Amino acid sequence: MNNDIQSVLYSEQQIDQMEDRLAKRLNAEYQNRQPIVVSVLTGAVFFTTDMMKKMDFKATLDFIDVSSYEGTESTGHVTLEHDLKHDVKGQDVLMMEDIVDTGRTLQYLIDLLQKRGAKSVKVCAMMDKPEGRKVDVHADYAGLEVPNEFLVGYGLDYDGLYRNLPYVGILKPSVYSQS
Ligand code: IMP
Ligand code: MG
Repeated sequence: MNNDIQSVLYSEQQIDQMEDRLAKRLNAEYQNRQPIVVSVLTGAVFFTTDMMKKMDFKATLDFIDVSSYEGTESTGHVTLEHDLKHDVKGQDVLMMEDIVDTGRTLQYLIDLLQKRGAKSVKVCAMMDKPEGRKVDVHADYAGLEVPNEFLVGYGLDYDGLYRNLPYVGILKPSVYSQS
């Protein structure tokens, strides 16, 4: 698996340090509050569980899954694949996302949670790819600003694989051209 990686962008240690910095900010914001942590499946699971262990406030954990389809037109379409167990009405929601690219997924989820009456909706993203943005949306907390490359590892996949790499890297082009 490691042989398919061209270069490591962020090491396990760099990711851990970034998470410590983010957790410090979240611990200040959510002190004495009890948010619902909403992890966006599947990519954000690794980031979410590592971050939750660094949170020193009470929180419940829930999962949501969406998929985005790119039609023939440039307007992306997002579909809800798996819904939350909790009712977010009147609750503080802290959404955990792996990476914000076009922003369509995030926009869809923020709209959905606000429509359901969440008291607050904040987003904590492991990575932000600002060059990919198609929708004007941003993460309230973003760990790493990344270049416009296709990344894998630490939850991010290519064709369902490479999520379990403990670092974030760039795939060798030969891996794409094989499929
Ligand atoms: P958006 O709706 O375009 O912002 O896409 C967000 C989703 O696309 C993320 O939650 C990821 O699952 C996926 N994604 C975006 N960029 C990458 C990448 O570089 N590698 C792997 N998945 C990515
Ligand atoms: Mg995702």
